[in-house]
Amino acid sequence: MAAPASSLRYRDKVAIVTGGSKGIGEGVVRVFVQNGAKVVFCARGVDEGKKLESEVNAAGPGESFFIPCDVSKEDEIKNVVVKTIEKYGRLDCLVNNAGMHPPEEEIDDITADHFRNLFNLNLINYFLFSKYSLPHLRKTSGNIINMSSLVAKIGQLHAVPYVTTKGAIDAFTRALAIDEAKHGVRVNSVSPGNIMTPMWQQLADASGNPEAMIQGGADAQLNGRFGTLEEAGQMCLFLAAEGTFCTGNDLLLSGGAELNYGCKNQLKERTNIYE
Ligand SMILES: NC(=O)c1ccc[n+]([C@@H]2O[C@H](COP(=O)([O-])OP(=O)(O)OC[C@H]3O[C@@H](n4cnc5c(N)ncnc54)[C@H](O)[C@@H]3O)[C@@H](O)[C@H]2O)c1
Repeated sequence: MAAPASSLRYRDKVAIVTGGSKGIGEGVVRVFVQNGAKVVFCARGVDEGKKLESEVNAAGPGESFFIPCDVSKEDEIKNVVVKTIEKYGRLDCLVNNAGMHPPEEEIDDITADHFRNLFNLNLINYFLFSKYSLPHLRKTSGNIINMSSLVAKIGQLHAVPYVTTKGAIDAFTRALAIDEAKHGVRVNSVSPGNIMTPMWQQLADASGNPEAMIQGGADAQLNGRFGTLEEAGQMCLFLAAEGTFCTGNDLLLSGGAELNYGCKNQLKERTNIYE
């Protein structure tokens, strides 16, 4: 049953969600549209994007509009913002989400080009989307939500470039929040722990023992499960719609994965961790 108009938490607001065709971005698109927003989302996969667009538009009560975009290309990023303003005439929220996590890698095997390319994909795209969106967000006292990661805070085995890009996103969020306060624009980040998405599944598949990796991923949380796309979308909706005192803040979406002691000693056999 459709929600009554009065309970729609982001009615007629306009949002851009990058990497919105699947995973966490898809969760954000769905939750925002369910709450009455007009959501422009972008990704590279045209078929997936068009399919999600028709599905969420059929359900309403808001609407979505898909624009193909490779977020490693500045002209394509600019195009998404221009088309959004052409279609809807305003912008209230930018959710910088598109990014990737390479399979496990150690520093001896990482080239400078690989590191640079990941910075371009995970960080520079957030910078460029913010830069082109801010003139419009300043007019609406809008907000930016940057998808960071829990691992920016606690690190992660065999993931130096990825963790570094997410740490930079945290610093970017705080610095931009300071500069944009005078324009009334809030800038925050969300740091997921383990959310089951196509990216998580791909990392598990590349690990050699996907079942064990997925079980380990679930067991890392206090409640023994992964977070969902809906829960990620709800966290972003809170920041966009109600979190009016939040700026320069990072919200953990982690199921408590960062709590408690565990065996961190890599010199010890992993099979003995509970002895
Ligand atoms: N899934 C998790 O557990 C988790 C944890 C922490 C942080 N994150 C972060 O959340 C964000 C989304 O991750 P996810 O797990 O949903 O990933 P995903 O791979 O399932 O989805 C990523 C989305 O980004 C898009 N994308 C990737 N590269 C792109 C490019 N060059 N141009 C345009 N779009 C591109 C994809 O099309 C897709 O829509 C990422 O920034 C990721 O680092 C995820």
